[in-house]
Amino acid sequence: MNILLLGSGGRENALAWKMQQSHHCSQLFIAPGNPGTAAYGTNVALTLLDFEAIKQFCIDNKIQLVMVGPEEPLVKGIYDFLKNTEELKNMVIVAPSAAASQLEGSKAFAKEFMQKNNIPTAAYAEFTIDNYEDGRTYLQQHSLPIVLKADGLAAGKGVVICESHSQALDVFEEMIVNKQFGNASSKVVVEEFLQGIEVSVFVLTDGKDYQIIGHAKDYKRIGEGDTGLNTGGMGCVSPVPFMNDVFMQKVDEKIIKPTIQGLQNDHLIYNGFVFLGLMNCNGQPYVIEYNCRLGDPETEVILPRLETDLVSLFAAMDNGTLIDANIEYNEGFFTTVMAVSAGYPGDYKKNVLISQLANVSMEKTSFIFHAGTKIDAENNLVTNGGRVMAITSQGNSIKESVEKGKQILSQINFEGMYFRSDIGYEFE
Ligand code: AMP
Ligand code: GLY
Repeated sequence: MNILLLGSGGRENALAWKMQQSHHCSQLFIAPGNPGTAAYGTNVALTLLDFEAIKQFCIDNKIQLVMVGPEEPLVKGIYDFLKNTEELKNMVIVAPSAAASQLEGSKAFAKEFMQKNNIPTAAYAEFTIDNYEDGRTYLQQHSLPIVLKADGLAAGKGVVICESHSQALDVFEEMIVNKQFGNASSKVVVEEFLQGIEVSVFVLTDGKDYQIIGHAKDYKRIGEGDTGLNTGGMGCVSPVPFMNDVFMQKVDEKIIKPTIQGLQNDHLIYNGFVFLGLMNCNGQPYVIEYNCRLGDPETEVILPRLETDLVSLFAAMDNGTLIDANIEYNEGFFTTVMAVSAGYPGDYKKNVLISQLANVSMEKTSFIFHAGTKIDAENNLVTNGGRVMAITSQGNSIKESVEKGKQILSQINFEGMYFRSDIGYEFE
């Protein structure tokens, strides 16, 4: 198969690495990709929202499978656009439809979907400028902390956990009246705060059958011990020690099955990944959010752990045999430690020279996935984002795996490089 992978982060580097191993993969193109993906295929300069150019590329290069990494093209309808192209009607598209992508694209849509399908989630209410005063009254009477969420996509910045009523009122005003996130915050979901431990579960579905392909816990805060600002994710562990059969059974029965059934009931076309952001509250799973794609850096830890051929799974998803797939996991514990630029998640410099990676000594079960890197005009590898590189390793314990990751990081350097050295700390 000729495959086109869309995206340019650590997630896409891990996907390129994994898909290129498949005997189904003949040519792999990554658009736009990064220096890490270039090791597994051909990077092509396409813009993710230029659907016309993507379509033409697929036709010209006889692409048989498209895998969409990030959420924006999904929410903007890339599935529907490509599916409606006569020349591409047999192409496998690993992506939910625009209508189904609303599970990520609109928090209010996702909450209504969960309520309708009896899927455990935090109690909520939604407000716009039209019932703004009711919203203020609602907030003043709400128990603390209060979770406020911009309805639409806000690049991971649309959720604020407010510790006081005055803060909640300010954030509410900022989002709705001052349009902090433009249209994305013209509607706001106000939610009860759930106390517990977060974990993410990844499901591949054709909208009827499904397979769980992994789970992970990610570390969102910049500082050690889960302190400081939220980031896109500073590291991950998989498997997560509390994800035993009893808990997974609850996730399956109370969350995954009703989610898939709900997609069917509403005729939502789905051929791709469902990312379930869950909270384990005293042994009971609740949905915090749905995403309609794989996570970053979760992908960098779940794919090395997954033994099953991913392209075969995509083919099975497409031809209705997903139910028969055999999901196998590698033994041991996998962890990812993310190396980030100085200043991240605030302002940071780009184009900072990264030391030679070719000389890094590591085992076959360790990987360096590029996230925000590029090759500059002088042919040097330099930083090109806040999250620069994801280091994934396997060990007999979480601690051993993280130690291997840190050993690799001790051989890599760029000015101001920072990483959390305590990934998985609560499981030691
Ligand atoms: P989201 O953008 O929906 O992933 O939310 C960002 C983060 O906010 C989540 O990963 C949680 O850590 C936190 N969060 C969101 N909703 C809740 C909630 N209802 N209770 C507690 N924490 C939450
Ligand atoms: N790591 C969280 C996300 O990909 O949304």
